[in-house]
Amino acid sequence: MLREKVGTLYGVSVGTGDPELITVKGQRLLQEVPLIAFPLGVNQKQGLAETIIAHCITPQQKKLPLYFPYVQDEKQLQQAWKEAAETVWQYLNQGIDVAFACEGDVSFYSTFTYLAQTLRENYPHVTIQTIPGVSSPMAAASVLGLPLTVRSQNLAILPALYNVAELDQVLGWAEVIVLLKVSSVYSQVWQKLNRLNLLAHAFIVERATQPEQRIYQNLHHHPHLTLSYFSVMIIYCGKRETKP
Ligand SMILES: C[S@@+](CC[C@H](N)C(=O)[O-])C[C@H]1O[C@@H](n2cnc3c(N)ncnc32)[C@H](O)[C@@H]1O
Repeated sequence: MLREKVGTLYGVSVGTGDPELITVKGQRLLQEVPLIAFPLGVNQKQGLAETIIAHCITPQQKKLPLYFPYVQDEKQLQQAWKEAAETVWQYLNQGIDVAFACEGDVSFYSTFTYLAQTLRENYPHVTIQTIPGVSSPMAAASVLGLPLTVRSQNLAILPALYNVAELDQVLGWAEVIVLLKVSSVYSQVWQKLNRLNLLAHAFIVERATQPEQRIYQNLHHHPHLTLSYFSVMIIYCGKRETKP
């Protein structure tokens, strides 16, 4: 039997690291709800979202770490989303509101989307709201002190590069390219940019807006880099007059 009031699940974007990048609305919700969920980090360690929100949580609020494996296997992922959705539903169904803290922006390549989709499939009457926030391409451009795009430039964002040939396709039409998850393919990307004479126009921001933040430019000097997973590359490959 359905209870009269079901809690709301809030997907709260908490930005890329600097806690001041959480929106006023996001911070208010994080302080109001009794239960704060977030993804567990790699090897069950504290994840980035939990680190970012540490200052807003009070001892009265309950924390709900949710396990999402860092794998490609669809079956394993679906199982994890299902289990996370069931865990969250137990609270929502008791009328308890839950805020899920999401690193960067909640609708930009985020685990939250799968959690929300699974909940909606299994419990169509669930109420879900998302609070937008600062995502890594915008944070990286800000850290570099450069505009991400100007005038009518085409922007391509590649969430993960499984094949460096994919870069050729976007180089045909994009003036600015953002590569997420660049750490695992860095050396192939470096070689490609070297061949195309684009190394001088590419920048890497590692752990943007976090205390460990690092910027890499003049990439000719950096053919081999061991980068954090939290690294983004921006390539300004447009016409000369629009390159920084
Ligand atoms: C699964 S995506 C999540 C994107 C996130 N929702 C956002 O809005 O930016 C993870 C990728 O985002 C990028 N990323 C996230 N946070 C970052 C940060 N603080 N600095 C640099 N790159 C970051 C990295 O490329 C990382 O591999």
